[in-house]
Amino acid sequence: MSSSWMRMFILIAFIYFFDCCFSSEKSYSDIEPCDSNRCRLPYCYCSNQSIPGGLAIRDTPQFIAININGPVNKNTYNLLKYLFFSKKYFNPDGCPISGTMFLKSHIDTNECLLRKVLQHGNIELSITSNSSECPTVDCRFKEKNDRSPYVPWRSYRLYNETIDYRRTLAKLAGLHSSSFVGYRSPNYEVNKNQLHWHILREHKFLYDSTLITQEWDIRFYNQQQPSPLTWPHTMDFAANYECSQGCYTQSFPGLWTIPIHLYQDLQGRNCTTIGSENCRVPRQKENFFKYLKYNLNRHLHSNHAPFIMAFDNYWLNEPYTLWRVEGLQLFIEHILRYHSNDVYFVRMIDIINWMKQPIGLEQMKEKYLSNIDVKSICNEQINIDDDDEEECFNGGQIQNLKSNTLKHNVSLFNLFDTMSEPLFRSNIVLYSTAGFCSFVIVTFIYDRFFMS
Ligand SMILES: *[C@@H]1O[C@H](CO)[C@@H](O)[C@H](O)[C@H]1NC(C)=O
Ligand SMILES: *[C@@H]1O[C@H](CO)[C@@H](O)[C@H](O)[C@H]1NC(C)=O
Ligand SMILES: *[C@@H]1O[C@H](CO)[C@@H](O)[C@H](O)[C@H]1NC(C)=O
Ligand SMILES: *[C@@H]1O[C@H](CO)[C@@H](O)[C@H](O)[C@H]1NC(C)=O
Ligand SMILES: *[C@@H]1O[C@H](CO)[C@@H](O)[C@H](O)[C@H]1NC(C)=O
Repeated sequence: MSSSWMRMFILIAFIYFFDCCFSSEKSYSDIEPCDSNRCRLPYCYCSNQSIPGGLAIRDTPQFIAININGPVNKNTYNLLKYLFFSKKYFNPDGCPISGTMFLKSHIDTNECLLRKVLQHGNIELSITSNSSECPTVDCRFKEKNDRSPYVPWRSYRLYNETIDYRRTLAKLAGLHSSSFVGYRSPNYEVNKNQLHWHILREHKFLYDSTLITQEWDIRFYNQQQPSPLTWPHTMDFAANYECSQGCYTQSFPGLWTIPIHLYQDLQGRNCTTIGSENCRVPRQKENFFKYLKYNLNRHLHSNHAPFIMAFDNYWLNEPYTLWRVEGLQLFIEHILRYHSNDVYFVRMIDIINWMKQPIGLEQMKEKYLSNIDVKSICNEQINIDDDDEEECFNGGQIQNLKSNTLKHNVSLFNLFDTMSEPLFRSNIVLYSTAGFCSFVIVTFIYDRFFMS
């Protein structure tokens, strides 16, 4: 055989090999009921309402995730400062309580304050959208004579609103895009073609928190044992609960979803979110506190599934509604006082990290959360002069925080871990290593026996 034929043959074999391996990745389109033999932590978790790691309820922490959807502006910064930066409130492990912001409306965001938020380290930043519009319905605040038509988002618009936005934010904060791992669809909307999940998976997001589960069974459940609630789970297999906005019907392997549970008001009406209009949210701080407590109790009395408190920033900042923030504050104080052992106020990413390696309450106390973190928020006291945020309004600039946020060597390792995990999960590493080895072997054989 002439050597040019041989070369051609090797090339074709090589292409064929790569083609076969990359096309053998799991297809998006088939979704099956969850099979717990094929779905194991840390990469996969079924939506079967059981507690991860087989922990007993009394040994399982109750996570509470306070979320604020909106831009970082003066109002939200003051709220964050009040609840999270004041060093008034501490989790049972002695670390300051933490929370998550789902950023949207870039135009209303004060970039200098955004950097300050990052500096504190106990607020996770996640993505909603660059604009303040919605993907499928017209949710714009319009002037009376504004007749501009609404156009539902096509895929390129969604890319702009999520991926390009994430890049902009990363640049601002001096971080890599992959430091932003979470997403929530504007207005909790799910597109029919499930586009946002395709984008999230393609761009290696870790979790989505858009789905709202309908799991209220009995009115005034607290006389009885409430039924178990859904824990966060991966989207490899079908969900076994009803989603109020329509569920995913395709498989998104490895992408986590942190479902929000339907709230109920004190008269038994369903509320999709905390402040939704179809239910009656009490107007005094004591009653608002009771309403929050009532909804948390359902989690505490069933299987401790994480309690997600998603607030919209404009709702919290409406005029004459100070009772909302005051009620929330009462809630935090009450919970930390009476559940000083088992309740943790955490960021969304902490919940996923915990689920990958579930541990009991005793171990949690050893500052577990701050140890597994990308950024350590507890081992090191971060001292920030809280009075200097005025400079953010005077056009003053503070230095780039890159050095500050990335200086821990442990953090760098974790960052690498987070970034490389999807590669290993999708077997690309395996196939390229196998491909490389066979290439070397084939070249060796060719060289040894066919060249003379
Ligand atoms: C729920 O799923 C997990 C893994 O995803 C599995 O370990 C557990 O056995 C399942 N529980 C039930 C009741 O099927
Ligand atoms: C999307 O982003 C690009 C660059 O950031 C911009 O040129 C383009 O006009 C944007 N498209 C839309 C629909 O906003
Ligand atoms: C985000 O919004 C801002 C302000 O409206 C705009 O200037 C910018 O181009 C947008 N970025 C992207 C990626 O669409
Ligand atoms: C609330 O939602 C649950 C679950 O979907 C449903 O069974 C119940 O009828 C609803 N209650 C009201 C008052 O609409
Ligand atoms: C991280 O850095 C500190 C000093 O900055 C050093 O003492 C420690 O050994 C380092 N840890 C690792 C895992 O390299």
